[in-house]
Amino acid sequence: MRLYNKYILPEVINWACRQKPNMQQREKVVPLAHGNVLEIGVGTGLNLPFYNKEKVQRLTTIDPSEDIWNKNVVDIQSLPFEFEFINAFAENIPMDNNSLDTVVTTYTFCSISDLYKALAEIRRVLKTNGRLLFCEHGKAPDKAIQKWQNMINPIWKHLGGGCNLNRDIPAIIEDSGFKMNKLETMYISGWKPASFNYWGEAGIK
Ligand SMILES: C[S@@+](CC[C@H](N)C(=O)[O-])C[C@H]1O[C@@H](n2cnc3c(N)ncnc32)[C@H](O)[C@@H]1O
Repeated sequence: MRLYNKYILPEVINWACRQKPNMQQREKVVPLAHGNVLEIGVGTGLNLPFYNKEKVQRLTTIDPSEDIWNKNVVDIQSLPFEFEFINAFAENIPMDNNSLDTVVTTYTFCSISDLYKALAEIRRVLKTNGRLLFCEHGKAPDKAIQKWQNMINPIWKHLGGGCNLNRDIPAIIEDSGFKMNKLETMYISGWKPASFNYWGEAGIK
């Protein structure tokens, strides 16, 4: 599994995350980021071209997998804002309290082992009027699809770097002390158990 996670998983994640429907979803949330921004679970950096250089002062990104980050697809030197990558987990964000205007996550909440702890950390580092921008996949509204999601989840999680198909992402965000300012949902094209998307914006309650 160590060799799979080091050599094969980064390729699989990069391939899955750069499919056109996912790329179109990024465009709906990432350009809204402003000020001092943190992206959690940056992966191979597929969101980096979507940040608005007029709005972002500084972008810090974290990811626990250097193997994935080492496959990053963007020329970091050419980014038009201050940029830093830190090898870290969302459950222990290496940033000061109350220091960020925006936290961005795309297709990452499915994979964080302790999502409640990560969301407590996001609340800690966000300014009181800061925003969490997210685009995630998770629990589908249709019972038949939910059944598949629950059945496949154990093996999917094992092969997919900890990715869960069946998390109710908006419910977990709201249970963690956030209020949902904007939420949209739909199946993007692709395999239904992995394609129900939630995207939007949440603030601290
Ligand atoms: C499916 S990939 C998505 C990558 C990227 N956000 C994107 O949209 O292309 C999930 C990412 O979450 C990262 N991840 C997994 N557990 C994490 C954690 N506890 N804290 C932060 N990131 C985590 C993985 O290393 C991986 O890069």
